[in-house]
Amino acid sequence: MRAVEIAQPGGPEVLRVTERPRPEPSRGELLIRVAAAGVNRPDILQRRGGYAPPPGASDIPGLEVAGTVEALGTGVSGWSVGDPVCALVAGGGYAEYCLAPAPQCLPVPKGLSLVEAGAIPETFFTVWHNVFERGRLKPGETLLVHGGSSGIGTTAVQLGRAFGARVLATAGNPVKCAACARLGAQRAINYNEEDFAAVAKQATGGRGVDVVLDMVGGDYTPRNVECLAVEGRLVQIAFLKGSKVELDLLPVMQKRLTLTGSTLRPRPVEEKGVIARALLQNVWPLLERGEVRPVIFKTFPLEQAAEAHRLMESSQHIGKLVLTV
Ligand SMILES: NC(=O)c1ccc[n+]([C@@H]2O[C@H](COP(=O)([O-])OP(=O)(O)OC[C@H]3O[C@@H](n4cnc5c(N)ncnc54)[C@H](OP(=O)(O)O)[C@@H]3O)[C@@H](O)[C@H]2O)c1
Repeated sequence: MRAVEIAQPGGPEVLRVTERPRPEPSRGELLIRVAAAGVNRPDILQRRGGYAPPPGASDIPGLEVAGTVEALGTGVSGWSVGDPVCALVAGGGYAEYCLAPAPQCLPVPKGLSLVEAGAIPETFFTVWHNVFERGRLKPGETLLVHGGSSGIGTTAVQLGRAFGARVLATAGNPVKCAACARLGAQRAINYNEEDFAAVAKQATGGRGVDVVLDMVGGDYTPRNVECLAVEGRLVQIAFLKGSKVELDLLPVMQKRLTLTGSTLRPRPVEEKGVIARALLQNVWPLLERGEVRPVIFKTFPLEQAAEAHRLMESSQHIGKLVLTV
């Protein structure tokens, strides 16, 4: 099969089209004939050599795919060859065929294309778990989403709103801010022009926000703590500005805050399966009714994975980039 491998750690040019043997499904796995593979920021970290695949995962990048079931491993039930499927994977997405553990596979939501479905798993699993399970966001609460125009951000803004929260989002320019507003953010904050913590306080009448979904860290962390309401939750999913921060923890005690976070990829299949079932029950109906949707900025043929990475690193995109096979 054709696949895109990381020849060595480095820039986008190290992504190389290669031939690999088609994988065989083991017990509990599906072999998916890939139609679309989502590109995610963690793929860039992996390409640069900073995010090794967990033990047993493919070295080929790619954390999510959609396509059709090509073959079933032993012990898999509920799926037939030819079924449309989308899946969260721990690697191997940038290829013509990809293995996925059955618990991490979901039906393609009715009415969505395979390209759209290929842009769903990584951000929807991440946002569901971090905003609703760890962050315990409830209807009527306020959610602040940093990186509101990112793949993760466009998902978090829509899901927050769909579940009855008031959403504030940050982004780096007016076009991205307008996109956040169209997706349901009541207030989009251009972090290059405004102090997000001050705006968040002002927008909540001084009360503060209930949940912050943060991928930035660095000097954002004390400001996140500052703009949280009593009993607020800060959920950390990445550290674009660094994970070493100086923080006065007194407000954590005074406001009874929760600081938490998680990373999806190394978690066991069973735990990802629990998130998949929650998505199927709570979020698939919203996707099928068109109340939320993956925001796709651009698609690239698999062979142009390097171009997709260049675009992602330029941060000009709004939403998701997808490779088509
Ligand atoms: N923990 C997990 O399980 C998990 C899973 C998936 C992804 N992630 C992380 O989530 C993040 C988003 O992933 P993605 O695939 O959605 O990526 P993406 O679409 O490339 O988005 C990255 C976003 O970060 C913003 N950004 C970059 N540098 C920034 C800075 N210094 N300050 C503020 N904002 C900055 C950019 O927006 P602006 O132009 O507005 O700055 C951009 O929208 C990544 O860091 C990724 O590693 C975590």
